[in-house]
Amino acid sequence: MEVTEAMMTNGTCRYYKEDAIPDDVLMRVLDAARYAPQGGNRQPVRLLVVRDPEKKRQLKEWYLQPWNAYMAAAKDGMIKIGSGELPRVLTDADNFANAMDKIPALVVVCAVMDDIHPTDMDLDRPTVVYGCSIYPAMQNMVLKARDEGLGTTVTTLLCHFEPQVKALLNIPNGIATAAVVAMGWPAKPFPKKLDRRPLSDMVFFESYG
Ligand SMILES: Cc1cc2nc3c(=O)[nH]c(=O)nc-3n(C[C@H](O)[C@H](O)[C@H](O)COP(=O)(O)O)c2cc1C
Repeated sequence: MEVTEAMMTNGTCRYYKEDAIPDDVLMRVLDAARYAPQGGNRQPVRLLVVRDPEKKRQLKEWYLQPWNAYMAAAKDGMIKIGSGELPRVLTDADNFANAMDKIPALVVVCAVMDDIHPTDMDLDRPTVVYGCSIYPAMQNMVLKARDEGLGTTVTTLLCHFEPQVKALLNIPNGIATAAVVAMGWPAKPFPKKLDRRPLSDMVFFESYG
């Protein structure tokens, strides 16, 4: 698939078939993550694929706690999602949350913290540079999944349960969980168009705004 088409049609998948991902397909998708840039070529990303039904059930149970709280807040109007169609977005995401254990693969994106050198730690705000050596690899994986016809859902809610997730999956000290990416064959067609702001809202030249 042409890379621009993959980027422009890679919407978040909310409905999955339960069919397994063949190993050769999965390995091609995971392999794409290796080619992402990261600071100093220190390659801090590790990918932990969870396919075991009991482990997926446990991950879903944890996920549902912040998700159900988020959904309740969204319904009360305390959280704004997207640019309209709140109920549809919520219904789709709620379906995803409740079916999470049936999705063929949950890929835990892990970060070797000692191999990341964020350059914004001394600023008076939370660091964002930490993620710069992690998320390009995740995005490579997600785009390659689209190329193979697989849907994906990037999630971060399970980071609330990082200690529990690490214990469940034997993730050692010094390794952080950066995201959990659900992956499988989509039960609905890929979107033809994503709901995004116009380019003029996000691109500036020479001076901000
Ligand atoms: C950093 C990050 C965290 C996200 N966390 C979640 C999550 O925990 N649960 C979820 O259902 N979707 C999550 N998403 C998916 C977003 O909701 C989705 O990318 C956004 O609504 C745009 O959807 P679209 O690409 O289908 O247009 C996350 C996406 C990103 C990039």
